[in-house]
Amino acid sequence: MTGKPLGIGLIGSGFNARFHLQAFSAVRDANIVGVWSPDARHAASTAALAASLDVGPAKPYKSIAAMVADPAIDALWLCGPNFARVANVEEIVDTIERGRGTLRGIACEKPLARNVAEAKHVAALARRVRLRTGYLENQLFAPAVEHGRALIWARGAALTGRPYLARAAEEHGGPHMPWFWRGKLQGGGVLNDMMCHSVEVVRHLLTKPGEPRSSLRPVRITGHIASLKWTRPEYVKRLKKMMGNTVNYARHPAEDFASVTIEFRTRDGLTVLGEATTSWSFVGAGLRLSAELLGPEYSMSWNTLDSGLKLFFSRAVKGKAGEDLVEKQNAETGQMPVIANEPAAYGYEAENRHMVRAFSRGEKPSLTWDDGVETVRLLMTAYQSAQEGRTLAFPPRGLDRFVPAVARGTLRP
Ligand SMILES: NC(=O)c1ccc[n+]([C@@H]2O[C@H](COP(=O)([O-])OP(=O)(O)OC[C@H]3O[C@@H](n4cnc5c(N)ncnc54)[C@H](O)[C@@H]3O)[C@@H](O)[C@H]2O)c1
Repeated sequence: MTGKPLGIGLIGSGFNARFHLQAFSAVRDANIVGVWSPDARHAASTAALAASLDVGPAKPYKSIAAMVADPAIDALWLCGPNFARVANVEEIVDTIERGRGTLRGIACEKPLARNVAEAKHVAALARRVRLRTGYLENQLFAPAVEHGRALIWARGAALTGRPYLARAAEEHGGPHMPWFWRGKLQGGGVLNDMMCHSVEVVRHLLTKPGEPRSSLRPVRITGHIASLKWTRPEYVKRLKKMMGNTVNYARHPAEDFASVTIEFRTRDGLTVLGEATTSWSFVGAGLRLSAELLGPEYSMSWNTLDSGLKLFFSRAVKGKAGEDLVEKQNAETGQMPVIANEPAAYGYEAENRHMVRAFSRGEKPSLTWDDGVETVRLLMTAYQSAQEGRTLAFPPRGLDRFVPAVARGTLRP
């Protein structure tokens, strides 16, 4: 790239924003120059973190509109909570329509929105002001996924035929903030929160490198959801203690387990399958991302907890609970896997590098909000299938107005 580095404004200053900041230290030609959060202290501490990581002279802004209007801001990374997506994008687009700012792109975290109607709404708003969009699905950029996929297709598939089955899972013990647990705020339970990753991973692995995503057409979807752990009386109590009284899984539970099978049709008429599983009721060392890709004479497997680095702490080491070994860590003693650079291993670094390059050069990113909309369509079909207890042809009728039972009441009239 030539010219000045891309000036980035962060919206949100939580867990996810911090991961992005760490990832930006490995991205050239970009500076974090702004942060906005409704909590001014959070914005200030995120700006201080950006300075300490040397990823840019970030300053806190008083509003999203003020940040958009500043010509120093070239692109936004939207990392606020799901329930704020529509309002955040409306404020951005309203500012642009009032003739302010010089934005060249906007990247949005997963899921693009809580349901199809919201996702289509934000995508249409961005189109209305001709704003280039990027959909942040980090796992497609995870080095192990990218490298494994490239080798499987170049060696195994080229000689013995395309892969026919992909599996992916994201599992941990439950989210860190109350809003994730509340169906209406988040848009659902674990299916909405994390299945977006695994559905995209299976689709990506099954798509031949260089071919468009549309070369694989989803035709039938079977979803399953269940509340396995957090509705048990002792865990209802524990969850309330951890998250506060607004999270009551005796009265308003959301699913803590989900699985989906997607039947895809290839351009040459073959059927291939994607299986995805996700869970907030998994107990292991911490967050586990995994995937498999299988074909006639080959297979690939990935599991982030099979890390190269392992530490052992005897029972004499009584340290505080932390997340310094692995995200969503569950223990501090015994044999523990460590992921030395999580933002790189989970794909954030390569994802941010890609988005920065695309926005700087005025090119379309490999994942846009149209892909974000498509992912929400798949998730909502999985919900509909799970709730009706049957396999559905994709897309099912009524998909654009569908809302999961646990999020009912969130659709605008
Ligand atoms: N790619 C991934 O693996 C991954 C991981 C975690 C979270 N996420 C996504 O990132 C987003 C943020 O999640 P998180 O874990 O950082 O949540 P969080 O609760 O830790 O942080 C949310 C941040 O948004 C701010 N916020 C509150 N109200 C807001 C509003 N109205 N507008 C804008 N910002 C507001 C909060 O102050 C906080 O800084 C979510 O959409 C989540 O799904 C993605």
